Amino acid sequence: MWTSRNRPPEELASWHRLAALAEQRAGQPIEPEQGRFETYSARVGRMFIDYSKQRIDAAVMAALIDLAEECGLDDAIQAMFVGEHVNTTEDRPALHTALRAPDGEGPKAVAGLVEAERNRFLTFAEDVRSGRWRGHTGEAISTVVHIGIGGSHLGPELVCQALRPDSDPEIRFLANIDGDAATRALTGLDPATTLFIVASKSFATLETRTNAATARSWFVERTCDPHAVARHFVAVTANDEAAQAFGMPPANRFATWDWVGGRYSLWSAVGLPIAIALGRSGFDDLLAGAYLADRHFRTTPTARNLPVLLALLQVWNSNFLGAATHALLAYDRRLRLLPDYLQQLEMESNGKSTRHDGTRVAMHTAPVVWGGEETNGQHAFHQLLHQGTRAFTADLIATIRPGHDLEEHHRWLLANCFAQGQALLAADTTGGETQGGHVRGKHPVTTVLLDALTPRALGTLLALFEHRAFCTGVIWGINPFDQPGVELGKALAGPIQDQLGDSQPTESAIDFPTAALLAHTKKVASAR
Ligand code: F6P
Repeated sequence: MWTSRNRPPEELASWHRLAALAEQRAGQPIEPEQGRFETYSARVGRMFIDYSKQRIDAAVMAALIDLAEECGLDDAIQAMFVGEHVNTTEDRPALHTALRAPDGEGPKAVAGLVEAERNRFLTFAEDVRSGRWRGHTGEAISTVVHIGIGGSHLGPELVCQALRPDSDPEIRFLANIDGDAATRALTGLDPATTLFIVASKSFATLETRTNAATARSWFVERTCDPHAVARHFVAVTANDEAAQAFGMPPANRFATWDWVGGRYSLWSAVGLPIAIALGRSGFDDLLAGAYLADRHFRTTPTARNLPVLLALLQVWNSNFLGAATHALLAYDRRLRLLPDYLQQLEMESNGKSTRHDGTRVAMHTAPVVWGGEETNGQHAFHQLLHQGTRAFTADLIATIRPGHDLEEHHRWLLANCFAQGQALLAADTTGGETQGGHVRGKHPVTTVLLDALTPRALGTLLALFEHRAFCTGVIWGINPFDQPGVELGKALAGPIQDQLGDSQPTESAIDFPTAALLAHTKKVASAR
């Protein structure tokens, strides 16, 4: 049985060596000498990663690899794949990798379930795409509205937008509780040709339940036929009873499981909108790309294991070089949701300060992750990246073969990506102060190049990010698969929502400043 190694990383010999190396190298530039690129780059499937612009050298890499060893990282990786309870606080396995294992190759305990459900939802997706699935009036589905939030939303929307933004049926996403989002998602829809997917692992999330109820009321008001709901609403959930109570018949209920974390779930039936947009073969390719990353992660020695290396670099940058934020700069407009997706993956997985054994960490954990679509950012926040005072790291992501035929545009896009990488590293190549001050340079950068933006390449990239998050969690000694910190806000919102309505104030945890804010809001609202 796997248990986290209890020794905090700061007590390990490799950690002390890294601290000394960081001190020795403080302020030194990274020399972009020949040979670095070959040493510090790698290819996995249809993806190439250049980490030669990180602030590393042979001694740093050796110490980082020793850190992985001393933390028992390889044991943890093997434990995750075979289904040991690596999600210690919830006492469960984390088996999202089983979702992309080909038939017959997943862990025995869940492979049968996964394969049967995969076949069910992919068949359903094909039925919707082909028009075999018909609405209550006999018409085919022309629009799918996916209702879900967080992990039940970000991955599916990212992949749909990246790979098939103009899909037929059209796919819309409704996540936020803001009524503006629901109003927009429903605008112009014909209930007879609309399919709603309610995706919620818990089937208890406020936003999703509220949006699903609003969608159902909208639908029933227009069709005047509550029985027609069965042709227009399906659920994806681990809480089958709640979906049944919502009125979904068994054929409309698709499973995910408690051993699949929400932010790791796009490979399950939570990815139903992806399957509808791409079709079965496209979804299979996405899984195949992720499976390739899984095999690499499980079988490649530490010194060449990319997710492990990327995690070690994150630890080096966060804990030894003082980088508090990580920017994901997408030099491909189709990937503009990648920063949002990665933000949840990293910050919900590793934005924690309690270790597996209940003790507090003595170091920083996940960086603040942010980013944007390039080259727009170059005319906005890159000023701070080049001349601001804060330490950060950046991933620059681009695609070599574009999805359009405007070659000159694409050459400029790639040229800007590479130029920014060089500028972030090299400071003023002119040899001194630029006009208007010093360009700092020395910022650690990783460049990720996809051959083309295909389901396979994207599957590999996302799985690789998942594994990076797992590895950093192991090194810091924290559980990347729970999210207890989000519960407090949820608990506090209930009584506040009651009081925004007509309810009389009850004894609750509302503090004085919040109560004053409530009173002001009610006064302004009632003055309309
Ligand atoms: O509130 C955070 C969270 O629990 C995420 O971890 C999760 O992805 C999201 O809410 C949605 O949860 P569910 O799929 O259960 O609706």
